[in-house]
Amino acid sequence: MKRHKIAWLPGDGIGGEVLEAARIVLDKLNLNAEYIDGDIGWEFWRKEGDPFPQRTIDLLKGVDAAMFGAITSKPVKAAESELSPELKGKGLIYRSPIVRMRQLFDLYICFRPCKAYEGNPLNYKENIDLAVFRENTEDLYAGVEFNTVPDELAKTLSKLSKPFAPFQSLSPDQYAISVKINTRKSSERIVRAAFEFAKKFRRKKVTVVHKANVVRATDGMFLEVAREVAKEYPDIQLDDANIDAMCMWLLKNPYNYDVLVAPNLYGDIISDLCAQMVGGLGFGCSGNIGDKLAVFEPTHGSAPKYAGQYKVNPIATILAAKMMLEWLGETEKAEVLEKAVKEVVKEGKVRTYDMGGQSKTLDMAHAVAAKL
Ligand code: NAI
Ligand code: MG
Repeated sequence: MKRHKIAWLPGDGIGGEVLEAARIVLDKLNLNAEYIDGDIGWEFWRKEGDPFPQRTIDLLKGVDAAMFGAITSKPVKAAESELSPELKGKGLIYRSPIVRMRQLFDLYICFRPCKAYEGNPLNYKENIDLAVFRENTEDLYAGVEFNTVPDELAKTLSKLSKPFAPFQSLSPDQYAISVKINTRKSSERIVRAAFEFAKKFRRKKVTVVHKANVVRATDGMFLEVAREVAKEYPDIQLDDANIDAMCMWLLKNPYNYDVLVAPNLYGDIISDLCAQMVGGLGFGCSGNIGDKLAVFEPTHGSAPKYAGQYKVNPIATILAAKMMLEWLGETEKAEVLEKAVKEVVKEGKVRTYDMGGQSKTLDMAHAVAAKL
């Protein structure tokens, strides 16, 4: 096997702690890899005015995969106030580096497997095994937003014949607009990714999550595209549900669902719900996958209140490392690693605070490593 080049991006808060844990496990697996540290996060926003510096972008252009911890994000005004004095007033605007990374590298698939490992006291029900595919580059996250609505746009909107009402008589600084943009191309490729996964792992059903009855243009198109793609997979059942109903049905009977696919925002929501059913943020792992690059991360954030305490659960990040091994073609190592996680969870001797125990982040990593 070749030597893999992996960008290592700890980021902020607990990001570095959970990545340290993942590295203990990868080293025990003897993964033939070169790890290259990259700068990302709040510190670089404050000092340099950019939380995702060009040198990190360049680093990502030359690697096979990346592991990412977490970053701290703050609203625009709070972010500006923390800039170092010489950068203030220059009109720098904070944008989440992970959202930017997904768009810049066209990491269009966000894959979030949610499995209930036996013996996890946090399981909502046993044997849940859901796979969420979330579109990762557009939708309401496209970044087309107006805090103050430009005059021309305001004029156009005020002329619309439909009775959209209150805002049409407001001055442009009294409302804001975030645009939901979905393309056929991205809708098609995320649905195809879900079906390809279902085909490869003999899963029976793909459920499209949307709100097409109300958000007709964008979600209507997403659903239409999904129906077209589904025709190419006659052995896999296509199902669809509104996002709101889906949240209820998932809780009522998670066993009715298998693979889920959704535009960006609904995918974000539904994947947190699914993660909570299998142990919460300490278990939610995520892959941002494109054609050339894939970046793996826990779904949780930087958890500032626990930063520096080595207290949080690293399993989400260890499972993200397992996903990275699959992406790198190291399927045997990925299987061995998942088996080790299963054993540790089942034994229940090492448990972090979220699981009701007192073990620390690195205790968990060493417990997993000991099974490898
Ligand atoms: P968070 O996910 O960082 O933490 C929320 C709470 O979840 C924590 O206080 C803790 O109780 C629990 N938690 C998180 N990770 C855990 C783990 N591994 N084990 C056990 N418990 C865990 O979300 P929060 O507090 O809303 O955001 C904190 C910062 O992180 C914000 O600046 C936010 O913007 C950022 N964020 C970054 C993300 C990313 O880097 N992809 C994703 C989500 C939030
Ligand atoms: Mg989220």
